[in-house]
Formats: sequence, C-alpha cells, structure tokens
Amino acid sequence: MKREEVTPVQETDGENQRITKMIKIDRDVFSSADVEEAAQLLREGRLVAFPTETVYGLGANALDETAAKRIYAAKGRPSDNPLIVHIAEMNALTELAAEVPKEAMQLGAAFWPGPLTMILKKSAIVPDGTTGGLATVAVRLPSDPVARELIRLSGVYVAAPSANASGRPSTTTAQHVYEDLNGRIDMILDGGPVPIGLESTIVDLTGEVPMILRPGYITKEQLEAVIGPVVYDKAVIARQMQENVVAKAPGMKYRHYAPKGELTIYEGTQEAVVAAINAEIMKRLSEDAVVGVLATDETAAAYVGGTVYSIGSRKDEESIAAHLYRTLREFDEIGADYIYSESFDDNPLSSAIMNRLRKAAGYRTITIP
Ligand code: TXA
Ligand code: MG
Repeated sequence: MKREEVTPVQETDGENQRITKMIKIDRDVFSSADVEEAAQLLREGRLVAFPTETVYGLGANALDETAAKRIYAAKGRPSDNPLIVHIAEMNALTELAAEVPKEAMQLGAAFWPGPLTMILKKSAIVPDGTTGGLATVAVRLPSDPVARELIRLSGVYVAAPSANASGRPSTTTAQHVYEDLNGRIDMILDGGPVPIGLESTIVDLTGEVPMILRPGYITKEQLEAVIGPVVYDKAVIARQMQENVVAKAPGMKYRHYAPKGELTIYEGTQEAVVAAINAEIMKRLSEDAVVGVLATDETAAAYVGGTVYSIGSRKDEESIAAHLYRTLREFDEIGADYIYSESFDDNPLSSAIMNRLRKAAGYRTITIP
C-alpha cells in the first residue's frame, strides 16, 4: 500500500531542539497565574499547545506571520492549509472579519463559546500566512476554560490547528501532544483528556447558503434550527474518494487521522459484520500479521482473536466520538498491520464520526449485503 508520509521539518534557525515544558492545570480549579507563562510565550511569538473542548490545539499569535510559520514547521503541515483563529470574546469578530453577516451573530449567540468554527471574509489585519493565502478566515471561540483564559490573558488572537504531527490523528491528551511534538514546541498545558474528542464543526458563511465544510459535535440540524437551511460540502460526506470533488476546506483533502496499519471499515448488520471481520482475523493471524479490531462494548467479546479495543457503547455516541483518535493511536502502539472497524451510522454524531473514520481508512470500506 502506498501512503504519503509527511515528516515534520525542524526549523532551520538554530532554535529547533528546544525543551518542551509541560505544565499541569486543573481545568476546574486554576488561576490566571497558572497560564501566565504560556500567555507570555504567545506574546513572544512562541508555540504553546493547550486543551480545548474538541482536541488539543497548537497555538501561536495569529497576526504574526513568523509565529504562524513556526506552527507549520513544528507540525510538518503543508503551508496552503489555513489555520483557525481562536478568540476569547465574540466582539473580536468585527476586527478579524471584513463583514459579519447576521447568521454569524446568530450562530455565535447560540453556540459560542463552543465547538463551532465560522468561515468569514477576512479583514486586512489577518496575514496570508495564517489563512494560507485565502481571502477568508476561520474563527472559533472555544469553551474550554483554560483555552479561553490563555487567549484572554495573552492579549493576542491565537491561531491553532490540532496539536498533532501532520497526518497523525488529532490529539486528545497532553501525552499524545508530547509524543508528536516534544522538542518542536515551547510548552504544553496539560488539562487532562478533552471532553469531545473530534474537531469543531466548520460552517462557511461566505456563500449563498451556509455550508458545512467539516462535520462535528454541532450538527447540521442544530445549525438549521438557528439560521435555516444549511448544506454539506459534497466532499465531506462522501462514502468514497470521488474524482473531481475537491474539499472546500483545504485541510479536508489531505489523508488525515491515519493510523500506520491498513484500516478497513465494515458495514452491514452487527452479526454479519462480526462474522466477516472474524474471517479476516483468522486469515491474517495465520499469516502472522498483527491484527487490531475497533469494536464496541456490545460486540467486543464476539471477536475470535487479535487485539480488540472497544471505543464505547453504541448507546453512547459521545463516548465513541471521544475515544476514536485515542484508539487509532493505540493500534499504532501495538504495531497493528491490519485494523478492522465496525461502522457507526446510526446516531446524531454519525456524520462527524464516519467522516473521520472514512478518511482514516482512506475510504476502504466493505459492505456486507
Ligand atoms: O476543533 C478544532 O477546530 C481544533 C481546535 C484546536 O480548535 N482545530 C482544528 O484545526 O481542528 P485544524 O487546523 O486541524 O483544522 C482546521 C481546518 C482545516 O481543514 C483547514 O483547511 C480548515 O479548517 N480551514 C481553516 N481556514 C479555512 C478557510 N479560511 N476556509 C476553508 N477552510 C479553512
Ligand atoms: Mg488537524
């Protein structure tokens, strides 16, 4: 199987091998003093990873192009992939956006602070280095108290992609950030595991009809209840890789979230899926391959071999979302050559979960009739 490896590039200015300082913070009980050192680093143009309610972010001053460049270098991220600008107060929108449509105000009032990112026409203060040269800017006001206090105290707008090495699953714990980015960034604020575990919903408000560029915890139905009809970008709900359909969010075209082993998704009734995966497990084990299974509480005991991880109960889609990236990383840790996954098509977070899972699988899906 051919895959594109993106190797993170070190900065060449002699400051590459830096010490990454890890600071533990209790999300429920902390003071401004606990995040002051991190805020100071952001003011100095340095890189700080911090928890948000969705995934960990890798922050830098969004209006400082040199700082934004450091993010791309640390992650090994393609420079045409724009960054989300994180704010602490809603009125920052009027500074970052050239126009603030009424839908933005309505969505902000309904879902901010929270896991929603809006795409708007950018104002002149937002540098091309942050938007990948686009005329639009992505803005989000996170609800995580550590994230908000860090942004507020730093006094800067904080550009933050997910804090993973490019191509790896997004990070949901500080330990995962450390594994991917130790020595490449200045600080990690460890606020423990994040609650949601999938990146924010991205809605583009610059076209005629609001369009979801990335499904997330805030669903299409929730957005429509506030602003009326919303459509999906075709590329993000695709069940297969489609020729000629280019994702509108530049980042969605890359093979993200990928574990190192070959991941295949099985669709069909629960019994049929378990039976088909079991047949595959037997075959691969007889070839001495390392096999992983991504199962649920309901099915985990039904598999005949391999390393079986349950990502939660089918009755609790939030736990499935929250454990997806962590489980994909665990398969890397056991050195899985082949990973077989059930599908999760029957709950309100399905479009977000399946969008990430299909991309992780490179759209490799087997449907049992
Ligand atoms: O939950 C989240 O959104 C997390 C946390 C840290 O806030 N951040 C995150 O950032 O997921 P990142 O960089 O991993 O994903 C940002 C996505 C990419 O697919 C990027 O292409 C898209 O947003 N994006 C950013 N600016 C855009 C723009 N102006 N137009 C279209 N897509 C944009
Ligand atoms: Mg990302």
